Amino acid sequence: DEGGGLCPQEDEGGPAAAPGGSPPPALTPALALTVFAAALGSLGFGFNIGVINAPQKLLEGEYNATWAQRWGSPPPPQTLSLLWALSVAIFSVGGMGTALAGGAVAERLGRKGALLASNGLAVVGGALMGGAKLGPTYILIILGRFIVGAYSGLVSVLVPLYVGEVAPLRLRGALGTLHQLGIVIGILVAQVLGLRALLGTPRAWPALFGAGLLPAALQLLLLPLCPESPRFLLARGQRGRARRVLLAFPAELGRGPAPKVGLLELCRSRRYRQPLIVTLGLQLAQQLSGINAIFYYSTSIFEGAGLQDPAVGTIGTGVVNVVATVVLVERAGRRVLQLLGLLGMMGCATTLLGGPFWGAVALASALAFVGFFAVGPGPLPWFVGSELFPPGPRAAALGLAGLLNWASNTAVAMAFPAMQGFWGDFGEGLAVAMAFPAMQVPKNLGILGIWGFLGFFGIFFGGFWVILGDFPVIIG
Ligand code: GLC
Repeated sequence: DEGGGLCPQEDEGGPAAAPGGSPPPALTPALALTVFAAALGSLGFGFNIGVINAPQKLLEGEYNATWAQRWGSPPPPQTLSLLWALSVAIFSVGGMGTALAGGAVAERLGRKGALLASNGLAVVGGALMGGAKLGPTYILIILGRFIVGAYSGLVSVLVPLYVGEVAPLRLRGALGTLHQLGIVIGILVAQVLGLRALLGTPRAWPALFGAGLLPAALQLLLLPLCPESPRFLLARGQRGRARRVLLAFPAELGRGPAPKVGLLELCRSRRYRQPLIVTLGLQLAQQLSGINAIFYYSTSIFEGAGLQDPAVGTIGTGVVNVVATVVLVERAGRRVLQLLGLLGMMGCATTLLGGPFWGAVALASALAFVGFFAVGPGPLPWFVGSELFPPGPRAAALGLAGLLNWASNTAVAMAFPAMQGFWGDFGEGLAVAMAFPAMQVPKNLGILGIWGFLGFFGIFFGGFWVILGDFPVIIG
């Protein structure tokens, strides 16, 4: 029996020994390389979230010029706004399109194989956007954004799945947050590269978009050096290969191949109902908090709030996001961090909505809003899903959670510009009625407050999680 000793333990008692030896060191170089290579995908995902924010004005200028070349005059302002909203939001539409398929692709090609293949989308999407000056700019950008969105949708399912399956139990939480860390670093890198002093110029912006290719290229080089998930190999009956991987990886395995549970069965089965509600609720709370309104539109938000240099505010959000993610990783229990994060976001939302003291206070509230997001509601939904489900339904559950994440991401991306307009009119009306012109200033930041209040909804699900108690961490 070549698979003898493959199933060291099934309880929560800490990482199991690799077959046939004493417990290996927790973070081996092979494991570190594997998790790093995987998180390059998260970096590419984050990069594409953050990249669209700073060059808005530049690209709108290009859209005007391309349109005028084709039709004789620039597009009406509403058409331009629509083209821009589409350029932003089509990304998450792409993500929605592939997230659900991510689980199925991972079952078919393997976790590593699927990640490798997903890079094809990153390359095509990046090349379309990087080469957008060569054709009708808005068409190439919108198409490219859709394709890198599809790439990011796959990554959002595949990275947590792969990392969750190669990481030993003791490290699963810390390594699980690396997905989010990759995303937030990607966002920050895009924000910094988008500065006018770097690639945010009329000549250099194609290089800014093309830079999204780099993490994909590096992953294509490194991932072939890493092993396939031992749990996937075992499920495929490849016990010999799984055993060899386990010699280098201190991961645990369940008791042999788990029967695959499909999407329908997952949704129907009472056994998975509670973890499913919690996983989906966490994802909804993450997106409906409105966090991506900041990462997609902060330049125009801060401009509307009267900030002299909106880029400073934008970079501030990226820095706070990275620092809070790094510093607070696993500092307290997960449910505490989730609830603390959501309560903090709501507190900031109250300041954003209610205070007449705009300017510095508003900026500080917006930054704190991001900080509270990063301690729990940001990272947790991504890896808690891979912990709550056993291997059988895991891929399907993560796919469904990913779909909901991207669908609500799309809703925020599309609704925000419309809400900005509405809040602006409403705020101006109120300001005139109250003879209080300062009311005009918060029109952009105040809208964030509304999203923040959706945190109530997240608290409801967080509360549900607290009431139910922690699920046993499932090994397998
Ligand atoms: C999470 C969200 C993503 C968001 C990011 C911001 O990863 O899923 O949509 O942009 O956090 O840090």
